[in-house]
Amino acid sequence: MNYAGRFDGRCAIVTGGASGLGKAVAKRIVAEGGKAVLWDVNADALEAAKAETGATDVYALDVSDQAQVEAAAAAANAALGKIDILVNSAGITGATAPVHEFPLDSWKRVIDINLNGLFYCCRAVVPFLIANGYGRIANLASVAGKEGNPNASAYSASKAGVIGLTKSLGKELAEKGVIANALTPATFESPILAQLPQSQVDYMRSKIPMGRLGEVDESAAMVCFMVSEECSFTTASTFDTSGGRTTF
Ligand SMILES: NC(=O)c1ccc[n+]([C@@H]2O[C@H](COP(=O)([O-])OP(=O)(O)OC[C@H]3O[C@@H](n4cnc5c(N)ncnc54)[C@H](O)[C@@H]3O)[C@@H](O)[C@H]2O)c1
Repeated sequence: MNYAGRFDGRCAIVTGGASGLGKAVAKRIVAEGGKAVLWDVNADALEAAKAETGATDVYALDVSDQAQVEAAAAAANAALGKIDILVNSAGITGATAPVHEFPLDSWKRVIDINLNGLFYCCRAVVPFLIANGYGRIANLASVAGKEGNPNASAYSASKAGVIGLTKSLGKELAEKGVIANALTPATFESPILAQLPQSQVDYMRSKIPMGRLGEVDESAAMVCFMVSEECSFTTASTFDTSGGRTTF
């Protein structure tokens, strides 16, 4: 499916744009008339993703480094002339372990990237969206943030934090033309699954009523709606792509 012209004249920043969902969203934004810059910590994958998506520019950065994020936001605004869309897709799973055995370094890294990093990106980019008088933000949370997955406490806590942050942010921006929502996918096929033991993936698949994992393009389609003009009366909320797993 392709909605030709849906993103005509729109300029987007996509974090985690070198892989998986971020790359799929960027590809679609460009294919439907927009411009995209990709932010990712994986410099090699970024160059390949630039060619694959047709992105205008790429920035190799770590979203958990606030100074790098601030600098990249200013650079993207200068290069694109404005920013209309922010898609926060950068993320990691962290360790698979129960809370009482969870490695401290993994806990801190997951919170630092998935929650603090997403906060830094919103904090840096929102002033440009407000100045623009129009904006759309899609924050990648997870069903884990609503339900909690066993042996994934850092990830679940970080994604619950993303949902809470998005609820605050959407309400703050509600009268400024800027809409912010979160997406809570169940497990979908992407390179992030290589960070998990197969037993954890099997557990998550078993929780999905449709009996299958999602496809990356199914969540990309939802994100593209969330960051389009058509998403105009929903903010501070969560969208779902979970094959029936979460019904709230
Ligand atoms: N795949 C799933 O099953 C699933 C389910 C629910 C939510 N999510 C969320 O969707 C988002 C995208 O996941 P994906 O499946 O596309 O994963 P992915 O691993 O394919 O892509 C994530 C990207 O984030 C980048 N990244 C990681 N740490 C970074 C950092 N510190 N700074 C900048 N970039 C960094 C990685 O290099 C990678 O390119 C994540 O936030 C993930 O938690 C994924």
